[in-house]
Amino acid sequence: MTIFNLGSINADHVYCVPHLPGPGETLAATSMQTGLGGKGANMSVAAARAGSHVVQIGAVGRDGLWAKNRLLEYGVDTRHIAELDVPTGHAIITVDDVGENAITLFSGANHQISEDSIARVLSSGSTGDIFVTQNETNAQVIAAKIGSKLGLRICYAAAPFDANAVKAMLPYLDFLILNSVEAQQLETALDVSIEELEVADIVITLGAKGARWVGREIDQSFDAIKVDPIDTTGAGDTFTGYVLAGLDRGLTMGQSISLAMRAAALMVMRMGTADVIPDLKEVEEFSGL
Ligand code: RIB
Repeated sequence: MTIFNLGSINADHVYCVPHLPGPGETLAATSMQTGLGGKGANMSVAAARAGSHVVQIGAVGRDGLWAKNRLLEYGVDTRHIAELDVPTGHAIITVDDVGENAITLFSGANHQISEDSIARVLSSGSTGDIFVTQNETNAQVIAAKIGSKLGLRICYAAAPFDANAVKAMLPYLDFLILNSVEAQQLETALDVSIEELEVADIVITLGAKGARWVGREIDQSFDAIKVDPIDTTGAGDTFTGYVLAGLDRGLTMGQSISLAMRAAALMVMRMGTADVIPDLKEVEEFSGL
C-alpha cells in the first residue's frame, strides 16, 4: 500500500550550544551542520527506511532541489514535490548539552502547495492507503477531507501544536499522534479528555516515559527504552514514520509502536534529522543500551 504524506521539507541548520539562548543573549555555537529536515520529510524518510512506499506531497524552491534529490536517495517518491519560485523552507535549530532543542521555522515553499495538485495526487489513492500530515504546510484540512472521502486512513501528527488546527482536522481523523504537553493543551482547549475524542486511535508520546495508545476499548502504555540522548530533534517524526510503516505492512498497533520506540531511541543518540534516521535493519537489531 502507499503512505501519502502532505509534509514540509526544510533545510535544517543545526547549531550546538552550551545552553539554549535566553532573550537578548548572544551565544557562540560549538559546531554547526546543515541537513535535510522538516517534520514531513523526516516522517517520509522514516517510513521509507522502514520499508513503505511513501509519496511526499510538498514544495521546494529552486534552492531546494538538493533536498528533493536527497529524499529520492532515501527511497521517497518525490514526483509530487513542486519546484517553485520561492525560497525553500528552513529551520534554525539550537541543541544544548543535554540534547534539548529550540527551533525557529521559516515556512517558505511549504505554505505554497497547490490544492489542485494535492487532489490530483490523492485521487490515485484507495482504501488501505494512509494519508499523513503535520502542521507545517498549508491545505491540511482540504487534503484530509479528500483523503477521507477516498477511504484513506487519515493520520495527523499535531506538531507544531495549534489547538485550532487540530480542532479543524478532528472530523476527518482516524489516527492522532501528539506528545503529552500537546495532549494537555488539547484537553484544555476543547474542554474534553483525550479518551472522549472521536478518533479511533490516539498515540501520546511521553519522551523518557514511553508512549500511550488510546484506541477503541484499549488504553495501553509502552515503556521507554533507556538511552543517553544527545539530540531529540526529529525523534517524534521518526516515531510517527515507523508507526505508520508498521501499520502499512500489517503489524498491529502495539507491534508498530514498539518498533517505532526503538527507532526513536536510536534517533535521540544521533545529531541531525532526516539524514540520520535509522533503517529497519538497525532498528530491528537494537534493543537498548
Ligand atoms: O521535528 C523536527 C523538525 O522540525 C526539524 O527537522 C525542523 O525542520 C522542523 O520542521
